[in-house]
Amino acid sequence: MSIRTLDDLLGEGVSGRRVLVRADLNVPLDKQTGAITDDGRIRAVLPTLGALVEAGAKVVVCSHLGRPKGAPDPQFSLRPVAGRLGELLGAPVHFATDTVGDSARSTVADLADGQVALLENLRFNAGETSKDDAERGAFADQLAAFGDAYVDDAFGAVHRKHASVFDVPARLPHVAGRLVLREVEVLSRLTGQPERPYVVVLGGSKVSDKLAVIEALLPTVDRLLIGGGMCFTFLKAQGLEVGTSLLEKDMVETCRNLLERADGKIMLPVDIVAADAFAPDATHDTVPANGIPSHRLGLDIGPETVAGFAAALSQAKTVFWNGPMGVFEMPAFAAGTRGVAEAITKADAFSVVGGGDSAAAVRALGLDESSFGHISTGGGASLEYLEGKTLPGIAALEN
Ligand code: 3PG
Ligand code: MG
Repeated sequence: MSIRTLDDLLGEGVSGRRVLVRADLNVPLDKQTGAITDDGRIRAVLPTLGALVEAGAKVVVCSHLGRPKGAPDPQFSLRPVAGRLGELLGAPVHFATDTVGDSARSTVADLADGQVALLENLRFNAGETSKDDAERGAFADQLAAFGDAYVDDAFGAVHRKHASVFDVPARLPHVAGRLVLREVEVLSRLTGQPERPYVVVLGGSKVSDKLAVIEALLPTVDRLLIGGGMCFTFLKAQGLEVGTSLLEKDMVETCRNLLERADGKIMLPVDIVAADAFAPDATHDTVPANGIPSHRLGLDIGPETVAGFAAALSQAKTVFWNGPMGVFEMPAFAAGTRGVAEAITKADAFSVVGGGDSAAAVRALGLDESSFGHISTGGGASLEYLEGKTLPGIAALEN
């Protein structure tokens, strides 16, 4: 990989220079209170920011949060993130109330050496995500004016062809931050020659999101364990009835085709926790996968499935896990995700957890993060990396 790194930049000396850092501070917020429910992505960027602060740079951090539609939207403000980032860095973070306007300009201009500023949400500006090169470029020009050098440490966003990820590095000397380097290093172990058996666990709600990665992984993996909302489309493809469970009807044929080509590598649930409503206190029972009552929906994998998945995982030497096995946010439907996560930690394997939801699940369930080989900050990004796709943010750093 012909990518310059943060150490290269530090070696040139950054004292007094403005360094624009693209981070992925897209953290989950509590719907009611707006409080940050998982600060993993903020902590993940601290090594890069800390090194720049220590070297005396004027550090200008930018990020997106959520999916606002190209205009300011208070529920997606990065202000709470600035507060948390300041606590973790042990020094206040100067917050700009816009991204490239007056507040941003004066905040950046007022930075002293070794101080950190955070700009308001990049996606409050239509130029950030625009499909139009000129519109993105114009926004990238404004952003690039805040830096003498650019560091990409937003691994979770490297699969997006957005101004701050793709166009800014074309305008400034650019390097990969510590997080991006570490993520690429770890994920390349999975695409290279993973130690076998290589077992992949996929969950989450939508098959359509995971189709490309399933296609790409099938030839390489020894076992593919499928749970989460997406398993019902596969069960349907096997000819089973799934009640009112999540079902992507237009994907059934595709799933049938995948199952035919999978050479028995795909393992599906044999039992399901089926509930009468999508609610934490819904009446529920464990039923065999071929006996889901017509008026019920599956919200978790059952204990027999967990045992089967755990047995497969106990053999593994390499594990990649993306996507929860059930609605783990509701305690009644968390056992599947917990069981699989625990089985991964017990396996004598190099394990990688990919995806914001799975990483958040690990922490929300109180599991020990250090018992996993690597917890990726990227969901879509880690999947697209494993698919072998060209990631715009990485490609931009290579140029
Ligand atoms: C993520 O959470 O997957 C990243 O922050 C990217 O966000 P996006 O899917 O809204 O582009
Ligand atoms: Mg995403």
